[in-house]
Amino acid sequence: MAMSLPTSVIPADPATHPTDLLALLVREGEKLSAIDGALDGLLARIAKEEEFTGKEGQVLSLHTHGKMGPQRIAAVGIGKPRDGDRLLEQLRVAAARSVKLARAAGAKSLSIAGPIDGAAQVQALAEGASLGAYVFDRYKKEKKPLKLGKVELLVRGKPARELTEAAELGRRVADAVCAARDLVNDSPGRVTPRVLAQAARKSAEESGLKCEVLGRAQIEKLGMTLFLGVSQGSAEEPQLVRLSYEPRSKGGDSVALVGKAITFDSGGLSLKTAQGMEDMKTDMAGAAAVISAMRLVAALKPPFAVRGYFGACENLPSGTAYKPGDVIVGKNGTSVEVLNTDAEGRLVLADVLAWAVEEKPAAIVDLATLTGAIIVALGPWTAGLFSNDDALAAELLEAARTAGEPVWRMPLPAEMEELIKSPVADLKNTGGRYGGSINAALFLQHFVGKVPWAHLDIAGPASIDKERGYNSRGGTGAGVRLLAEWIRRRAAGTPQPKERARKRR
Ligand code: BES
Ligand code: MN
Ligand code: ZN
Repeated sequence: MAMSLPTSVIPADPATHPTDLLALLVREGEKLSAIDGALDGLLARIAKEEEFTGKEGQVLSLHTHGKMGPQRIAAVGIGKPRDGDRLLEQLRVAAARSVKLARAAGAKSLSIAGPIDGAAQVQALAEGASLGAYVFDRYKKEKKPLKLGKVELLVRGKPARELTEAAELGRRVADAVCAARDLVNDSPGRVTPRVLAQAARKSAEESGLKCEVLGRAQIEKLGMTLFLGVSQGSAEEPQLVRLSYEPRSKGGDSVALVGKAITFDSGGLSLKTAQGMEDMKTDMAGAAAVISAMRLVAALKPPFAVRGYFGACENLPSGTAYKPGDVIVGKNGTSVEVLNTDAEGRLVLADVLAWAVEEKPAAIVDLATLTGAIIVALGPWTAGLFSNDDALAAELLEAARTAGEPVWRMPLPAEMEELIKSPVADLKNTGGRYGGSINAALFLQHFVGKVPWAHLDIAGPASIDKERGYNSRGGTGAGVRLLAEWIRRRAAGTPQPKERARKRR
């Protein structure tokens, strides 16, 4: 369950600093001599014997038997020497690995030394440490509590306030990511639309945001017929949620975040296979990311308003369920022929996006586990980015790179519109076998008017089937770090990123 590690930056010599475990982050090919004076070159000798070169994933551990400050030392390979955003990602992974080593060793304290020379690196290490400490054990009889109580990042000289703040921000970010993981990982029988709305309210109250939760009657009043259509097969009442952050001094362009919030997607009458619905509790990962991102917005305090939206419901088959063939008129007046009740996410998002754009935000970003097709296109770890605005797309891609979230831009070809035209309505909710994630994005585009909009299809990265780097099995909290970084940059007034001819990784 979510519980972050206090992480501080302290000036100390790794060789003499007392700690249960010292993790030395080593780049490939780097000499191990930095600390080895106190060990008479022992570490370097063992490294040679064990063929430790600093390759990513390599670990070399030894006990110091009281000869040094640290009880144990672990050299942790971080891979080829990199800089910029790629170094940040190496540091997240290495910090998570260090925490896992500390867990295995039963260490109460962990100190990390390595290429730390700026706020961004400190933030990345703090993120990685807390993300790597996460386990979802709510339903386990035997829990393996973490003995580790603190992480120290060792630097030379008194750290600037900037670094201390970066450690705190990294921890907060990881906390928010883990809160999203918790919501995704919990069972769909527990995380119903009401419970998800309640989680949003609690998170908002804790962080000083406004939270509105609307039930069926109010959703009807707003004319969200597509949303209601999806929800009508379920006994659970749909919930429409809006979280609002307002800056101290009004003014400035507002931003809207919208998340898909299907708390369970069975496919409805177009029922999924048993295997196809095994992981469909994760279909609210977009909303979980929005709830957590809003929490970080409250901490970042940008000089513009930010609103987070989601329409939560279940997609179930029943005697009251919506049917293939139904034509439903959405909030913005667009009629939709429902051909497949399993293409439900775009229907709910259509109405919620239409509502959100009424406030005329300067940008609207939605996150949704929208299509299996995006996983076919981009693989299991990369989100698809669709946008009607190149500047907004560039901002998000840059933020994603810094945040360490793989995102790839996808096209919105106008000529594919004909695939989602319906003979009986303005649109149909499926576009056939090919380009499934594009059809879905083109569909959404009909509901955002002229507002700069970006859609992140996170069906792949929202959850993973086995531990990987700083992500544990299950929900990853995809989108949270990306959104936080994007908001942070917008708040800092970062100039629009230029089209850069940068080398491919
Ligand atoms: N929630 C699913 C998409 C999904 C699939 C997310 C796999 C994560 C993993 C979505 O509601 C869905 O069922 N999409 C259909 C659309 C189709 C019926 C046009 C899909 O991708 O098969
Ligand atoms: Mn579906
Ligand atoms: Zn779905």
